[in-house]
Amino acid sequence: MKKLNYILVGLAGLLLLACGTQKPSGSANAEKGLKHYYQPFFPMGVAVAPRDLSGVNADFIRKNYNSITSENAMKMGPIHPKENNYYWKDADSIVSFATKNNLKVRGHALVWHEQTPVWLFKNADGSQVSKEVLLQRMKDHIFTVFNLYKGKIYAWDVVNEAIDDDSTNFLRNSPWYQIAGEDFIAKAFEYAHEADPNAKLFYNDYNAVRPEKRERIYRLLKKLVDAKVPIDGVGIQGHWSIFEPSEAELRKAIEQYSSLGLDVQITELDMSIYPWEKERRAKRSGESDELTPELEQKQIDQYSKVFKIFREYRKNITGVTFWNISDRYSWLDSYPVPGRKNYPLLFDANLKPKKAFWEVVNFK
Ligand code: GLA
Repeated sequence: MKKLNYILVGLAGLLLLACGTQKPSGSANAEKGLKHYYQPFFPMGVAVAPRDLSGVNADFIRKNYNSITSENAMKMGPIHPKENNYYWKDADSIVSFATKNNLKVRGHALVWHEQTPVWLFKNADGSQVSKEVLLQRMKDHIFTVFNLYKGKIYAWDVVNEAIDDDSTNFLRNSPWYQIAGEDFIAKAFEYAHEADPNAKLFYNDYNAVRPEKRERIYRLLKKLVDAKVPIDGVGIQGHWSIFEPSEAELRKAIEQYSSLGLDVQITELDMSIYPWEKERRAKRSGESDELTPELEQKQIDQYSKVFKIFREYRKNITGVTFWNISDRYSWLDSYPVPGRKNYPLLFDANLKPKKAFWEVVNFK
């Protein structure tokens, strides 16, 4: 009897080892995409470019996601290059792909200090515009974009990254702030709400789980909520790494933001294999950019940890969006170290699920 027990335990062990983090057997699982596993929790989204919307990439998106975001196409620079000239083609292709395939669309982003068009802050003579002119331009932009996509874009990042990187400051000293002061934030939400009262309106930022920045974001959001500014949620960008965030920090951030009555979305998720760096720099000689088994295991653990927490907070979290579709291309391949490969997503360069994927869909 004892012997039989040993054999059974041994067999079970072997079976476990064989399954491990590998793809589970059975065709039902192979057919299931990420969105199917997360159906009971929240929509799964991905940032796309028009080039992703045909062939195998399109099939891949349809299979795995039920929400898409434009990686660049709806930013003010690309979509509104001249004051009286909009470039709709790329954004249109994303919205029409979504409509055809029954996907939700998150709009990104209305008011941001980067990728702005050159005309935005200047008069025709090159001088800086007044606050009134800037707010009018902002309003025209928001109304024009919203009029075109009303009812097709369910949520928008209305203001992106307004908090300063320097923890001793509050708001970023951007041209928006220099010209219009703190008001530009509330105004952006007010115009957006006026243009489409049904759109869900978000404030979106990075490092939003780090305690010092979390406190400043919370302060901003609380001011907006207290002033009855029409804001629905906060986007935690989720440009994270195998080194952060900790479980306690992530829980605290979700709880603190939710305490304001706001929805929380994870809007730009990727899990770098390198520590966070913001300054651009050249690749150091001999600096390795291999996904070693050790790094991969850390990434598996980190992805598994954050998704377990997301599932726990399903009442507060109304969406999770990855930033880029697979390790074939990520913005982190060229930022902040040009030419350094990164592997931050759940799918490898051939669009195959990585071990981290199987952990994320394994609800132990
Ligand atoms: C920020 C922006 C995104 C994108 C990333 C890098 O997070 O919100 O739109 O530009 O940087 O791709």
